[in-house]
Amino acid sequence: MQYYFPPMAKLNHHFSKLSGNYLFPEIEKRVADYRQKTPHCKLMDLGIGDITQPLPASAVAALAGAALEMGKQGAFRGYGPSEGYSFLREAIASVEYAGLEIDPSEIFISDGAQSDIANFQELFDIDNRIAIPDPTYPVYLDSNVIAGRTRALLKTGRHGGVTYLPCTEENEFKPQVPTIPIDLIYLCSPNNPTGTAMDRKLLKQWVDYAKENNAILLLDGAYSAFITDPDAPQSIFEIEGAREVAVEFRTFSKSAGFTGLRCSYTVVPKGLKIYDFGSIHSLHALWNRRHATKFNGVAYPIQRAAAALFTPQGQKEVKALVSSYLERARLFRQGLANLGYTVYGGQDSPYLWCKTPPKVSSWNFFDYLLQSHQIVSIPGSGFGHAGEGFIRFSAFADSSALGEALQRLKSG
Ligand code: MLT
Repeated sequence: MQYYFPPMAKLNHHFSKLSGNYLFPEIEKRVADYRQKTPHCKLMDLGIGDITQPLPASAVAALAGAALEMGKQGAFRGYGPSEGYSFLREAIASVEYAGLEIDPSEIFISDGAQSDIANFQELFDIDNRIAIPDPTYPVYLDSNVIAGRTRALLKTGRHGGVTYLPCTEENEFKPQVPTIPIDLIYLCSPNNPTGTAMDRKLLKQWVDYAKENNAILLLDGAYSAFITDPDAPQSIFEIEGAREVAVEFRTFSKSAGFTGLRCSYTVVPKGLKIYDFGSIHSLHALWNRRHATKFNGVAYPIQRAAAALFTPQGQKEVKALVSSYLERARLFRQGLANLGYTVYGGQDSPYLWCKTPPKVSSWNFFDYLLQSHQIVSIPGSGFGHAGEGFIRFSAFADSSALGEALQRLKSG
């Protein structure tokens, strides 16, 4: 039998390789279903890492002031520079990257680290070999799957054509340098979900590896403000040579409560080169081109709010915010440990990485916590195969929710 297919638009067939829904909406869906069945339940939400404290006062004042400017003839602004206003880029360079020789022009302002990380792979040929930590933030893998950079699904459920860098108890959740050549390497420090920050020695090994292999490191530093370990650099640019091999993604979402405002930045050093059949190109120039084509910039009042975080008062407020979330993480970790759970993270990160009871899978434990205790968590296996047997709790949750969750777990 012959089939006739009329001419029609064709799907990007790589979408079919994605494993079901994106992790966080899938959790939301399951929680919504549960809520519908048990409308009177009081859920303790320790799931998605959304902030629960209001914006720092300096940011609010700047936001309001800039909003008023927008209503005044002669003061309002239309399109801004797609790469961000210089007042914000300069503030970031001089405060966040003080002493690290990052020029403001190397900083691109955007609406979220998630979108920048997902989009950055567009600059690279489809044949590049990629490596990602396992477990980690699902965006690195999913964006490469959609782009067609991965091959068919393997029997194990993993994607062909991807080198997974296991982050397990055995290696203290630190992705080790591979023995094979890789072109693009995603790193996340402190790692979401394990909460582990990479130390100086390991980051140096990665920088050296990238130099030897002409590879590029894409470092997600969304939670860098939460690092307390003096041996774990907040920026990869503290490592000598990183300017030639690394891109860094950061956000105001978690450190300053901007999840609802949307503002982030990506640092692309001008010394970073990319090869194309014998010719050499500047990655900075390419990202600039891509950004200008696909993005019209973050709203002026939001950039003003972000810039206010770099004033002495703004810095004080951000530090207080970060410390308060870390204190919640510390108390929750201690509480879980007292109940007999094995817990990691929570010291350089707002996330706690907790082992499920023996022989209980991540999803089964997620279901148990939801149905028996009305606690929302994130199953570790949702972040990758090596996350199986773990569950992630977010200490961005309200203190009262964290305390109540412990009480519920205690009562069995
Ligand atoms: C998380 O819960 O891992 C984050 O909130 C997700 C994100 O930042 O996109």
